[in-house]
Amino acid sequence: MKQVTIGNIPAFTSPNSMVLICTEKPDGSTNMATLAWWTIASTNPGKIMFAINKGAYTLELLAQNKEVVVAVPGVELTPALIGCGTCSGRDTDKAVKCQLTMQEIEGTAIKAPVPCKLLIHAAVAETLDADDHVVHLCDVKAVYGDEDVDAVFGWKGYAEFAAAQKK
Ligand SMILES: Cc1cc2nc3c(=O)[nH]c(=O)nc-3n(C[C@H](O)[C@H](O)[C@H](O)COP(=O)(O)O)c2cc1C
Repeated sequence: MKQVTIGNIPAFTSPNSMVLICTEKPDGSTNMATLAWWTIASTNPGKIMFAINKGAYTLELLAQNKEVVVAVPGVELTPALIGCGTCSGRDTDKAVKCQLTMQEIEGTAIKAPVPCKLLIHAAVAETLDADDHVVHLCDVKAVYGDEDVDAVFGWKGYAEFAAAQKK
């Protein structure tokens, strides 16, 4: 084995799960931020966690509203992964910019793009300062899935995006 940097880790764990962190903006529209660093944290009760960089508008929206939808996008949303991860919702309507069709989700005003394989509706319970990121531990309220959608994964770290299985 050879020594590698922490930045090389995603290249060694590929394919990597990718999500869109969906939050509500003050005007009622939905902001979306591309995110790789998330996981299930507890199953009983259901909890998830994810890390948000300190420059992200999403951090402010989560602090204000304490509510999130973590969306696992279908492979058709590959361009949106790049689009939502390379600009800020402070000055951009990402749904418009990425030409997304948004779907309603039961029990929340937050919307999610179409198609998604999984939607996790959750409430922020705790945060932990992790230097350049803030870790969010969230209580899961509801989970919705569609087995017919192929999720998109990051390959070669996050250099390429594609489904994980050949059919
Ligand atoms: C492939 C990819 C993966 C990303 N993963 C993360 C992540 O795990 N955590 C994070 O804070 N930002 C991540 N980002 C960066 C955010 O998506 C980016 O900061 C975004 O502009 C935040 O949007 P906002 O300002 O509207 O919240 C990723 C971006 C890309 C393109």
